[in-house]
Amino acid sequence: MDYKGTRRLSVAPMLDWTDRHYRYMARQITRHTWLYTEMINAGAVIHGDPVRFLLKDECENPVALQLGGSEPADLAKAAAKAAAYGYDEINLNCGCPSPRVQKGAFGACLMNEPLLVADCLNAMQDAAPDCSITVKHRIGVDRQTDYQVVADFVGTLHERTACTTYIVHARNAWLDGLSPKENREIPPLKYDYVYRLKQEFPHLEIIINGGITTNQQISEHLQHVDGVMVGREAYHNPMLMRDWDKLFYGSDTEGISHAELVTKLQTYAAAQISTGRGTILRHMARHYLGLMHGLKGARTWRRILSDAEMLKPNNPALLAEAWEHVSKANFENER
Ligand SMILES: Cc1cc2nc3c(=O)[nH]c(=O)nc-3n(C[C@H](O)[C@H](O)[C@H](O)COP(=O)(O)O)c2cc1C
Repeated sequence: MDYKGTRRLSVAPMLDWTDRHYRYMARQITRHTWLYTEMINAGAVIHGDPVRFLLKDECENPVALQLGGSEPADLAKAAAKAAAYGYDEINLNCGCPSPRVQKGAFGACLMNEPLLVADCLNAMQDAAPDCSITVKHRIGVDRQTDYQVVADFVGTLHERTACTTYIVHARNAWLDGLSPKENREIPPLKYDYVYRLKQEFPHLEIIINGGITTNQQISEHLQHVDGVMVGREAYHNPMLMRDWDKLFYGSDTEGISHAELVTKLQTYAAAQISTGRGTILRHMARHYLGLMHGLKGARTWRRILSDAEMLKPNNPALLAEAWEHVSKANFENER
């Protein structure tokens, strides 16, 4: 089977992390992995600065915009706008546990309101008929620990909408007493619930997410579900994605080298700074800190690229300077 153009692998939506600069870097490392934006409130998409909330690079596709909201009319407007910017998919967040989001009655609390979610998804699909409309959710909220909770949620949406893609963060969201960070660590992972969803709804695309950090684990999950979404590891160790096209999409293209990537990022940074939109080197360099993970000199790379004084002149050649330290420590003989 040709997996290209599918969500076999994806990078999770992460607030403050998966902005367009991160996504550009990720796309240089993997051609086929599906990328997600940070969650953006429907209101911000409708009324906010499009450069900040919607702008993306042509090379990013396939890419999904994740929306936060619970008003079908607003979500429809936001979806139409996102479609016009060239997003392939629009995803509704039903998994975020933050108190700010709970106040707005969206995110994970929407798992308690599947009928409203169905209205939202239908409104989004009508407004953006050429985009896939998908949902990302948990396996339950608070102390609902029964498999049937998530099965009913997916079952209701399947019955009432055209949504065929379900991204499941395989743990509960505890809305009371845990911070968002704790909510990604403390509620136990139940991968078997997600596998069971795939068995019960074999014609739906079921994507598993949560705590997945190695290619070995990815391969194992792919025996049971259609796709794997990786969050934190893809951010802290982006070069993990270098083998994904080969391993999981059947591509025969060699993965990019660190040296090539640094050159590309330097060219990108120079172009971004020169647009005059206020982009500075730090906006990009902060996403590059994990690139040398596992190599000698990684600490020096991180230190240089997070040094406020060194970043201040906004000179993209700082990337080459930082790379020189890593390169010397690791690849001296190859040069
Ligand atoms: C910094 C950060 C921000 C996040 N922001 C979002 C978000 O905007 N929307 C969302 O659905 N999930 C968000 N998440 C959750 C991730 O998408 C993912 O579900 C979670 O991290 C579990 O996957 P992982 O164990 O592979 O990291 C965020 C996670 C992190 C670490």
